[in-house]
Amino acid sequence: MSDTPRLTRRPEWVALEDHRAEAFQQPSLRELFAADPARAERYVLRVGDLRIDYSKHLVNDETLALLRELAAATDVFGLRDAMFRGERINVTEDRAVLHTALRAPRDAVIEVDGENVVPKVHAVLDKMADFAGRVRSGAWTGHTGKLIRNVVNIGIGGSDLGPAMAYEALRPFSARELTFRFVSNVDGSDLHEAIRDLDPAETLFIVASKTFTTIETITNATSARSWLLAGLGDGGTSRSSEAESGGEKAVAKHFVALSTNAEKVTGFGIDPDNMFEFWDWVGGRYSFDSAIGLSLMIAIGPDRFREMLDGFHSVDEHFRTAPAESNAPLLLGLLGIWYVNFFHAESHAVLPYSHYLSKFTAYLQQLDMESNGKSVDRDGNVVGWETGPVVWGTPGTNGQHAYYQLIHQGTRLIPADLIGFARPVAELSDELKAQHDLLMANMFAQGQALAFGKTADEVRAEGVPEEQVPHRTFQGNHPTTTILAPELTPSVLGQLVALYEHKVFTQGAVWNIDSFDQWGVELGKVLAKRVEPALTDGAEVPGLDPSTAALVAAYRSLKTA
Ligand code: F6P
Repeated sequence: MSDTPRLTRRPEWVALEDHRAEAFQQPSLRELFAADPARAERYVLRVGDLRIDYSKHLVNDETLALLRELAAATDVFGLRDAMFRGERINVTEDRAVLHTALRAPRDAVIEVDGENVVPKVHAVLDKMADFAGRVRSGAWTGHTGKLIRNVVNIGIGGSDLGPAMAYEALRPFSARELTFRFVSNVDGSDLHEAIRDLDPAETLFIVASKTFTTIETITNATSARSWLLAGLGDGGTSRSSEAESGGEKAVAKHFVALSTNAEKVTGFGIDPDNMFEFWDWVGGRYSFDSAIGLSLMIAIGPDRFREMLDGFHSVDEHFRTAPAESNAPLLLGLLGIWYVNFFHAESHAVLPYSHYLSKFTAYLQQLDMESNGKSVDRDGNVVGWETGPVVWGTPGTNGQHAYYQLIHQGTRLIPADLIGFARPVAELSDELKAQHDLLMANMFAQGQALAFGKTADEVRAEGVPEEQVPHRTFQGNHPTTTILAPELTPSVLGQLVALYEHKVFTQGAVWNIDSFDQWGVELGKVLAKRVEPALTDGAEVPGLDPSTAALVAAYRSLKTA
């Protein structure tokens, strides 16, 4: 066990508790702005294309200084440097954490166990670019010689959410003549709906799995292969050896794999030449700028993909080099800690005002909650402080007509990020483009209403009957960060994702947890495997608890009813 003081006993932590009690017992954003109107300009950071406004937070200069002192005391920058150096900071898996190497320039040198990994990264990017180019140009055809028109990514978690989110985000940059689908759920309906209207002869499956053992992915990939072979006819399910070799050839033209596990990929029947590699130092939820992004690269093309990597890299460099006062991921991480640990906020909303970011929050859920949903510290001791919040949200105005009520007038403190763009990127008609101002007016109005609310006196002044005044009063003081960028380009998407990656890193470092393992997903996987025979064959499962046994029995009787 390390002999550093436990987090909550550190003087910097205690100072923040005192500060909260003394200066923020009844925080008021109206008062904070009245005392310091310049905070509207001072509490803004510019990182690349991102303008990050944190003026509507329940903080003052002293809060920010105390938070930075906590970061210094917990050596966030020390762990950051160790990450960038390729040290094995994922302690429970004994792995380096080097997603930053995936977007490093060709001439960078980043070593893992004495080996410079950058040439390998670029060799895979080049192989992806070559393949993506061939699919996009039509040089890569299906088994029957037809052009590939459909690309179906089969993966789950980090092997799905990243490419699916980024494809959605960058649709305006995509090859519109190609259809992209993303299948993740082991519910057969997911694959069914993704392929039911596709021609197998025109369909490329990308099987994305770091481990190539994930049951959902392997099950879906196996079913997709059957669908392909049955649909292609000659290489189908016939048992003749000629047909089987036809089947293998068909698989070679219609299946590629993205994985770290060449042996399993070959075992599945995918030609190793059709495998795009990545490495154990890339965490699943940090992987969409590795080979896992192949579907995205086919969609937007290698040049746009590289622009996205450059966007990531620019924020990596900012996080690596900017001083604490102007380091945006550090700041966002610390603001989150302020609310989670000192206001006991349980959740954090991410509310993009862009339809193209419709999957962004779902993506961040894995990034944040799988990383920081931990209850023991890096030494294995139970933490005595709150860790990662629940992350949730959906695109802007839709949420306003659903759950914003609770953020405005409920009893909980829910810090939120509002993300918007000055220009729409899509090829919209002039009339649709004009809607953009209305969209953004909503975003700014929400930030304003959440921060400053509406007092009872203001409500009364509108002539509202007294009995309705409490219902129409808005308490305000709901903190938001407003992130504004010119438009949603590949580079800006890379910048945004890297910003959140390093924010999550910062929080994990302060909380002294391992943000890079995910043991919490294992138990469910093991139990599902154990229970499945009971569902399919009615097999006896030793040691099944009475509640689950009753559910299994009810399921079996309904299934056959
Ligand atoms: O859900 C656990 C997890 O290991 C994630 O971390 C990962 O992104 C996902 O499963 C998929 O894993 P794989 O890419 O190995 O199929």
